[in-house]
Amino acid sequence: MTSPIILAVDTSDFDTARAWIDATRESIDIYKLGLEFYLTFGSQGIEAIAKESGASIFLDLKLHDIPNTVKKAAGVVDHLHPRFLTVHATGGAAIVAAAVEAVTQTSITAVTVLTSLSDDDLNQLGYSSGSLETATNLARVATDAGATSIVCSPYEIEAIRAVVPSTVEIITPGVRPSDESVTDDQVRTMTPAQAIALGANYLVIGRPITSRWSQGAAAMASRAAQIVDSIKG
Ligand code: C5P
Repeated sequence: MTSPIILAVDTSDFDTARAWIDATRESIDIYKLGLEFYLTFGSQGIEAIAKESGASIFLDLKLHDIPNTVKKAAGVVDHLHPRFLTVHATGGAAIVAAAVEAVTQTSITAVTVLTSLSDDDLNQLGYSSGSLETATNLARVATDAGATSIVCSPYEIEAIRAVVPSTVEIITPGVRPSDESVTDDQVRTMTPAQAIALGANYLVIGRPITSRWSQGAAAMASRAAQIVDSIKG
């Protein structure tokens, strides 16, 4: 079975990234590497991580530009064959379609509304509806344009699941195990089991697992395994 957890490898230290992946491989198949990592180590760094670990990569570059530029940028990383590559749905249908055209084996993942934006922020930016409706519209537009996966808040899973094809994979951050005392900067959270029950396919989880690194690799491995078990019930 593929693990429902995607580990957010939020570090710009290459050896730490490798060590986190090694420690959690038994419970996790996909690792999210973002702009911080990509801008530090480039495509070669991503390739090295993928080859050495045998893991799949969620390449979180959140592309957002005119279609021609997005197409070229997505084409540059196509040879890395990331499992997922993110683009901003707010860039419109044409940039999603451009990214889809540029990749051969990658699911183009549309990021809907950043959870850092409140309904007031959206209103100030000129959006006529709040985050739930805006995210749902963006998900519909992006999947119509060819995106095969969506990133959204756990609170938007149900509404988005209702309007996108059943084959679309829904990925959500903002997830916290019920025994995690610290929510960090995540404000509205759900447990992993709740998010999966609502229709998420994958959960992006970082600090609830990576913070265990200070207690050693075995502690981190068992935390990852425990979270996977909590989803199975
Ligand atoms: O450590 P934590 O579990 O909060 O990590 C969540 C990951 O998901 C981070 O890499 C964060 O940047 C990302 N993310 C998020 N909320 C979003 C989009 C991405 O927390 N709306």
